[in-house]
Amino acid sequence: MTTVGLIGSGNIGITVAQLAIEAGHQVVLSNSRGPGTLVNTAAKLGPRAFAATSEQAAAAGDIVAITVPVKAFANLPAAPLAGKTVIDTCNYGPERDGHIPELDSNALTSSELLLRYIPDAMLVKAFNNIFYKHLLSLARPAGAAGRSFLPIAGDSPQAKAAVTEFIDSIGYGVVDAGGLAGSWRQATGTPVWGTPYGPYSDEKGRPAGEDAVRAALAAAAR
Ligand SMILES: NC(=O)c1ccc[n+]([C@@H]2O[C@H](COP(=O)([O-])OP(=O)(O)OC[C@H]3O[C@@H](n4cnc5c(N)ncnc54)[C@H](OP(=O)(O)O)[C@@H]3O)[C@@H](O)[C@H]2O)c1
Repeated sequence: MTTVGLIGSGNIGITVAQLAIEAGHQVVLSNSRGPGTLVNTAAKLGPRAFAATSEQAAAAGDIVAITVPVKAFANLPAAPLAGKTVIDTCNYGPERDGHIPELDSNALTSSELLLRYIPDAMLVKAFNNIFYKHLLSLARPAGAAGRSFLPIAGDSPQAKAAVTEFIDSIGYGVVDAGGLAGSWRQATGTPVWGTPYGPYSDEKGRPAGEDAVRAALAAAAR
């Protein structure tokens, strides 16, 4: 059983938490407003879900998922994330996050920006390219027909292996998309972002296999 710390418990965070619970893991939820606001959510997820502060979720997680708006990066707890395998689900959107010059100019990917705030974490970009409702509905066990794949990007082989194992356990295969500097290939608006899993109007989504995800990554340009 893996303990997954969630920093951010919104649409995508709770979906990852739900899939993790269904796979037999334990989750520690947090948000910006404090654990009291997550007690009911944790209760709905069951006895292996807990509400905590972000610092506690970071400290508790074997894997920690950061799933917040990019504008919140400066408020994340760096110390308890040192040495941890950390998943970055985040996408930059200037309309929500305000303009960030290094991201507007493509000098940095949003994951590289995140790493500046949590420099000692082993960061892996994952889950950022799939609509949360599709993430829930397209999960399938290994070997099942219609299993979908997700791209991951990161600079630590050890962290990528841990994230691959976790993602496999919750219902997806993984395509290694390279390092954090190249993670723009799965960022907002790229071919692998959203489209392979079907339109948002259909909550069930459409399975996207390994070849489709590889082809979409290869088609990315900027
Ligand atoms: N929605 C999707 O389908 C989807 C898919 C892939 C990737 N993403 C990306 O994943 C990230 C999260 O998306 P979302 O849709 O889940 O957002 P969301 O529903 O708005 O939830 C954001 C969460 O982040 C928390 N948060 C904000 N600042 C925080 C801080 N300083 N410390 C701890 N928690 C903080 C919020 O807590 P409070 O409510 O207490 O403020 C909330 O729980 C975004 O970067 C988004 O672009 C979203």
